Amino acid sequence: MAERPIVTLTLNPALDISSSVEFVTPSDKLRCQSPVFEPGGGGINVSRVCQRLGESTLAVVPLGGPTGSRIADLLAAERIDTTVIEIGDETRQSFSIIEEATGHQYRFVLPGPTMAADEVASALSSVVAAARGAACVVVSGSLPDGVDHDFVIDLVAAIEDTPVIVDTSGPALVAALQSGAHMVKPSARELSYVVGRTLLTEADIEDAAVEVKARSKVDVLVASIGAGGAIAIDDTGTVRLRAPTVQVRSTVGAGDSMVAGLAVGVSRRCELIESAALGVAAGTAAVLTDGSKLCEADEVERLLPAVVRP
Ligand SMILES: Nc1ncnc2c1ncn2[C@@H]1O[C@H](COP(=O)(O)OP(=O)(O)OP(=O)(O)O)[C@@H](O)[C@H]1O
Ligand SMILES: [Mg+2]
Repeated sequence: MAERPIVTLTLNPALDISSSVEFVTPSDKLRCQSPVFEPGGGGINVSRVCQRLGESTLAVVPLGGPTGSRIADLLAAERIDTTVIEIGDETRQSFSIIEEATGHQYRFVLPGPTMAADEVASALSSVVAAARGAACVVVSGSLPDGVDHDFVIDLVAAIEDTPVIVDTSGPALVAALQSGAHMVKPSARELSYVVGRTLLTEADIEDAAVEVKARSKVDVLVASIGAGGAIAIDDTGTVRLRAPTVQVRSTVGAGDSMVAGLAVGVSRRCELIESAALGVAAGTAAVLTDGSKLCEADEVERLLPAVVRP
């Protein structure tokens, strides 16, 4: 592997199965097109995009049962370096269907496995070992049962000198904000959860982002605002970036693509404004692709100069 990979951790991966059907109706058998199988979950998606953007990457993933093996095979087929933590429970599957008549996407997400305490400890020690000599570590996605909300706090405490980027939600996000991670990327919806109020306008989101950054222990907070772009806040101030206006095909995969752009910026030691612009360009490039497809490198390159920055 090349020097200094971007290491990702996906504690709750899924085998993503996607297909389409003309109409979704109750009771009838819905005869679907041939399915596409992809390795999924926040960190795995981040690794796949980082690779497309030309960076070396290592995905650390707990996997169990035949579904876990299938994910390991799919990652190998994409030549993504992987450290597997074998778990006793079976890895989950997610199923998404596009209704051809309307273009609506239906996403069925099954519950994940429960991780045993020794499996969680093994995931933690694998990431800490991989972090030595890594460009950055990205923790992305939900935490399965068996993993404490404070997991990210323990992880950041155990990693020295390598920046950690976190994208998660709910109580795990609240904990991550108190972890001393380098960067956390909440969406507007996730910020609303953290501040416990509805955020109606972009001004509301910006105020919440500033407030959350001020009472956090993270170096950088990047709040993503969907079509509105993002706001990046560090101790020196606030930068507002606007996403180019594009024709939206599917917003699935936008957040993970954005986090990959941010990680690539951090690993190249870019200024915050440049990393944030790369994140917005990658997120916006992902909405140009159908279904759950992630962004493509040529679109990211094309959109980057169109991200409006101060
Ligand atoms: N409708 C859109 N038009 C243009 N860009 C978009 C759109 N939706 C998302 N993006 C891009 O993707 C980035 C991330 O999107 P968003 O803020 O919705 O986060 P998310 O992580 O996908 O949200 P959540 O996790 O809450 O579902 C945005 O900053 C933007 O660059
Ligand atoms: Mg997200």
